[in-house]
Amino acid sequence: MQSHNVHVIDHPLVQHKLSLMRNKEASTNSFRRLLNELSTLMAYEVTRDVPMHEVEIETPLETMRARVIDGKKLVFVSILRAGGGILDGMLSVVPGARVGHIGLYRDPKTLMAVEYYFKMPQNMDNRDVVVVDPMLATGNSAIAAVERLKELNPRSIKFVCLLTCPEGVAALQGAHPDVPIYTAAIDRELNEHGYILPGLGDAGDRIFGTK
Ligand code: URA
Repeated sequence: MQSHNVHVIDHPLVQHKLSLMRNKEASTNSFRRLLNELSTLMAYEVTRDVPMHEVEIETPLETMRARVIDGKKLVFVSILRAGGGILDGMLSVVPGARVGHIGLYRDPKTLMAVEYYFKMPQNMDNRDVVVVDPMLATGNSAIAAVERLKELNPRSIKFVCLLTCPEGVAALQGAHPDVPIYTAAIDRELNEHGYILPGLGDAGDRIFGTK
């Protein structure tokens, strides 16, 4: 599945790190480090089209106009709690980005997203938003997060995950066809408990060592 609005980052370094993360024997320490490294590589792709402007700088030899990005215009929005893993990696390459948080938990019976926290920077209407969450599974949290963010009228919204499945892509694209999805892989399927197969298990538990 590769629609124009789904970007599978099929780079050897990304795929290698993802394979190591899938292995159930990976320790919390290495899982977290790999997620961090992988996220910096994904940030490279996700920021490929961010606007640039010229500033005047002085090299040791002369004055020139040089191109820079306006990192402050970017907002990384982390879906709690597992989004924090990707957020850290993204911030290591775009340290000036602003950060928002959305707290959503998945009701285990309905699998629907319930919001418990929402904190964004001011003036969202002239910012480019990158929503991060490692697993795009049912799509319920992603859809709810994007819906809330659209109320603030940002200039653009992208969604970044580590892994997804056809069901997750279809759900998010069905609800928000204007939001491009960046992922390292689209796995086979979603099971009846809302887990991605073959997947990597519960991303939050693996990042934080809570299981
Ligand atoms: N969330 C996870 O952490 N893992 C899945 O497989 C699906 C949702």
